[in-house]
Amino acid sequence: MSSRKPTIGILTGGGDCPGLNAVIRAATKSAVRLGYEVIGFLRGYEGLVDPVSYMPLDARVTADILLKGGTILGSSNKGRFTALVGEGERVQIDPGLLAQAADTIRQLGVVGLICVGGDGSLAIAQQLHEHGIPVVGVPKTIDNDLGATAFTFGFDSAVATATDALDRLHTTAASHERVMVLEVMGRHAGWIALHAGIAGGGDVILLPEIPWTFENVCQKILDREAEGKRFTLVVAAEGACLPGGGLVHGTSSPDERRQVRLGGIGDIVADEIAKRLGRDVRAVVLGHLQRGGTPTAFDRMLATEFGAHAVRLIHDGRFGQTVCYRPPEIESAPIAEAIRQLSTVNPRGSAVQAARALGIGFGDDADRCDPFRGCGPDANGGGIA
Ligand code: F6P
Repeated sequence: MSSRKPTIGILTGGGDCPGLNAVIRAATKSAVRLGYEVIGFLRGYEGLVDPVSYMPLDARVTADILLKGGTILGSSNKGRFTALVGEGERVQIDPGLLAQAADTIRQLGVVGLICVGGDGSLAIAQQLHEHGIPVVGVPKTIDNDLGATAFTFGFDSAVATATDALDRLHTTAASHERVMVLEVMGRHAGWIALHAGIAGGGDVILLPEIPWTFENVCQKILDREAEGKRFTLVVAAEGACLPGGGLVHGTSSPDERRQVRLGGIGDIVADEIAKRLGRDVRAVVLGHLQRGGTPTAFDRMLATEFGAHAVRLIHDGRFGQTVCYRPPEIESAPIAEAIRQLSTVNPRGSAVQAARALGIGFGDDADRCDPFRGCGPDANGGGIA
């Protein structure tokens, strides 16, 4: 099939997140205004290859999707296209598949393909680009772990959900004088745990970026009790390594090319606190609730700007780039740069410092030090004045 007008294609790859539909809507509306036809490939990259599957997109199809979670195009984080295995280890996509995808793009008259995805999906986009397919990237993920952009859309919505969960756990924890452990997603980045932990009034936040011990976590609970606070909220990032050094894995994936599925740290932390302190402890795993539902206003805004900017990149012939947010502007960067390094929490960054200043613990020895001067000889005796 060849269309009369030049066509822009769009696909959503990897795990879904709130805001994907806002990107699809923005890209469609702005592309149509520039004179393009728009098609959406279904089920992520799978829609590019046999059986090729896509749907036409226009203002009518995208009219009511701004508020909708998920993606009207479907997505996939498994299947024939896998560009990352383990953590950041690149896999060469089958050249036959790349050739098929290139044929599809040519036959449908697609002059630019918008690939919306996280690190894995953008790593695939990079290989399509290297194969001569005209792609641009749009970074998405609740994990907020992509380099080159200050924020990905989906993150703010996930933080809002986790914060709401903490608000709810707060009241029941207080009523029953319990320790509540909330496990949140984020893979190897602690952004969701950090932001929700601060916004939701958490008392201890366990991050992949800050090594912690059970002794320090329990000490924080005892310190709170000594101050008359008989409940504690612990936020554990799924990727926070156990004190022995290990990640906690859920059930392993039958597809060994997929990244390991994290999960289970919440229960382990809860059981250990109960064992050591003899307190009533409960764990809650928030799981995919963080990925579903309506995007926040911030995510709709970011996703809309990303979608419009991606079309602009195609219009200007700037392929191999991904849009990114460098406050206060939306800019672009090579896809290769965005996937080169994960963005993780800076243990010395201002958010961690602010949390420490409030007495929030991270389960490390610094919990007992002056939040500004540290534990050195000039500090105020190792306690917070
Ligand atoms: O990358 C997004 C994410 O939700 C991670 O936070 C989480 O570890 C993973 O995806 C879960 O993947 P799945 O939906 O395959 O269980």
